[in-house]
Amino acid sequence: MTHRALVPEHIASLVPYQPGRPIAEVQREFGLTDVIKLASNENPWGPSPKALEAARAALAQVHLYPDVASRDLREALTRRYRVVFGNTIVGAGSEGIMAGIVRTFLHGDDEVLTSAGTFIGIMVLAKAQGIRIRTVPLRNWGYDLEAMAEAIGPRTKIIYLANPNNPTGTLFTRAEFERFYARVPAHVLIMQDEAYHEFVPPSETYPDSQLYRYDNVITLRTFSKAHGLAGLRIGYGLAAESLIEPLLKVKLPFEPGTVATAAALAALEDSDHLDLTVRNNAEGLARLLPCLMALGLEPVPSHANFVMVPLGTAERAQGLADALLRRGIIIRPLGAFGLPACVRISVGTPAELDRLMSALPDALGELA
Ligand SMILES: Cc1ncc(COP(=O)(O)O)c(C=O)c1O
Repeated sequence: MTHRALVPEHIASLVPYQPGRPIAEVQREFGLTDVIKLASNENPWGPSPKALEAARAALAQVHLYPDVASRDLREALTRRYRVVFGNTIVGAGSEGIMAGIVRTFLHGDDEVLTSAGTFIGIMVLAKAQGIRIRTVPLRNWGYDLEAMAEAIGPRTKIIYLANPNNPTGTLFTRAEFERFYARVPAHVLIMQDEAYHEFVPPSETYPDSQLYRYDNVITLRTFSKAHGLAGLRIGYGLAAESLIEPLLKVKLPFEPGTVATAAALAALEDSDHLDLTVRNNAEGLARLLPCLMALGLEPVPSHANFVMVPLGTAERAQGLADALLRRGIIIRPLGAFGLPACVRISVGTPAELDRLMSALPDALGELA
């Protein structure tokens, strides 16, 4: 028996999110033992030891449901960001919150507006609900906020901005954001996804959404990247109480779980581990970019923990990913992001970067 009649067309035609390939799968397929993954922008230094300790301690309580209000973590966020409790929400990854935003605010003919070449999580979530997405082309590999302002239409309900952007690693500046914001009607919600903000050094030009706190902006942040807790699934959102309140009604009540919440609380307080991660990442980028350029490639200057490398054609991009895979190095070809001629490489540890750098000349030599 088929259930085709049960499945709406927008679900039948949906292409699910394709994550970076897991290490175990590549080990099996290529008969390799030593495989490294530079494909999902994870923290190669692992989680904070304090977060691990807190997670272990929390395991003893997992027979109990989590606190439905996530009070401890949300209170820690209020202290960190000098906001009130009602300005905070936590969820199963920032994508968990994004899913709640889509379920809460979008219906019928509403549209989401974003850039081409951005994080595809939002596209999958919106399409799964039959919501239309409109995209504006990238300019110089970054968001074209002027064209996006131009593209706002009567049905635009949410604008999704990732800054730094994944997979391009680019930033838009304060001046660009301010010019853009001035053109966004007050009834349009801006989802400002700052999954990689920790990697951006404090600067005059980064439009950290916490500097603005506009009523129609919701900030999304995560413990998956710089904090190294991707496997636990925990992230947070900051916004006006009038936005958080409906989101809390729709949210699955017991997300995130007890262990994730305990780890996140400890990670938030462990500034040493965060500083180390950010410093190591900057050092990794400073090695990786010149190496790629010395090989004749033109990596896009990155403000995050990964680098996008355009290779001219989809064949060369897939070819490089495949050639590195055969050498036990997983990188990310970007066809699913609508950038089939590009690959994305996450910054690894020095040992992982050594391995990548010594494999690259031969891998590139195999390309037509
Ligand atoms: C821009 C961006 N937003 C959100 C996410 C998802 O993060 P989380 O693990 O918090 O759901 C990612 C992960 O790759 C990302 O790159």
